[in-house]
Amino acid sequence: MGSGGGGMMDLEDVTTVDLMTELLRRMRCAPKPERRLILIGPPGSGKGTQSPIIRDEHCLCHLATGDMLRAAVAAKTPLGIKAKEAMDKGELVSDDLVVGIIDEAMKKPSCEKGFILDGFPRTVVQAQKLDEMLANKGTKIDKVLNFAIDDAILEERITGRWIHPSSGRSYHSKFAPPKVPGIDDLTGEPLIQRKDDTLEVLKSRLEAFHRQTEPVIDYYSKESLVVQLHAEKRPEEVTAELQKVLS
Ligand code: AP5
Repeated sequence: MGSGGGGMMDLEDVTTVDLMTELLRRMRCAPKPERRLILIGPPGSGKGTQSPIIRDEHCLCHLATGDMLRAAVAAKTPLGIKAKEAMDKGELVSDDLVVGIIDEAMKKPSCEKGFILDGFPRTVVQAQKLDEMLANKGTKIDKVLNFAIDDAILEERITGRWIHPSSGRSYHSKFAPPKVPGIDDLTGEPLIQRKDDTLEVLKSRLEAFHRQTEPVIDYYSKESLVVQLHAEKRPEEVTAELQKVLS
């Protein structure tokens, strides 16, 4: 390596601190068991809030189809152009589109120890295709974490949410406020509200969840993979439940 051929990153240009941090991370991660997790729950149930915590603790990659699709929409890629209309209305995009992006994303080196699927699978067809994909690799899903919560709580969570677009960090004006309103704590960059985080679009997102995604919970219940969480509790309490389930 070193002289940077074939598009590979030139390690000489990586700072010593970054290199050492990554080395320490890999040493800490080496003995961790492999895990393949699905996070399932309605919009605002806390999947995106808990994912980075589980990712870092268990050395997994975090694959959020919603984040990937929003990035594609922002970059106006062919995938983004196809997905935008459904997303704006709070409807699901086609199964083929999301199955394709997940299949590709799972090949990343950061998924070596396994993954957290956040927002996928969202239909029984997606679940079947995922199972096929994993069976071809000789692996399978270990646990499905169900973020169970009453719809009534979600309205306030969704309308108060603020996002830092480049990192995906999420805040809440009441439950998890940034130090300075409208500003990301770490970078000082502005926060935004998601286009689909309105009461009107939330209604269709919830409708899609109950009609198309809840059957996925039944699908995995038959294999006894589903663990119920109390997603209405405070974030730290949900984290503690997750730590117990994954210990
Ligand atoms: P996606 O981005 O996946 O959105 P979603 O499932 O609706 O989930 P959210 O991101 O809204 O909720 P979350 O559970 O992550 O909540 P968060 O932790 O941020 O999908 C968007 C769209 O993309 C879909 O509508 C669809 O069109 C398309 N799409 C994506 N995947 C697809 C697929 N597989 N197939 C087809 N189409 C697909 O928390 C919310 C707020 O509450 C935050 O402000 C947070 O700070 C706060 N909060 C979190 N936990 C707590 C707590 N315990 N107590 C109090 N406040 C809390």
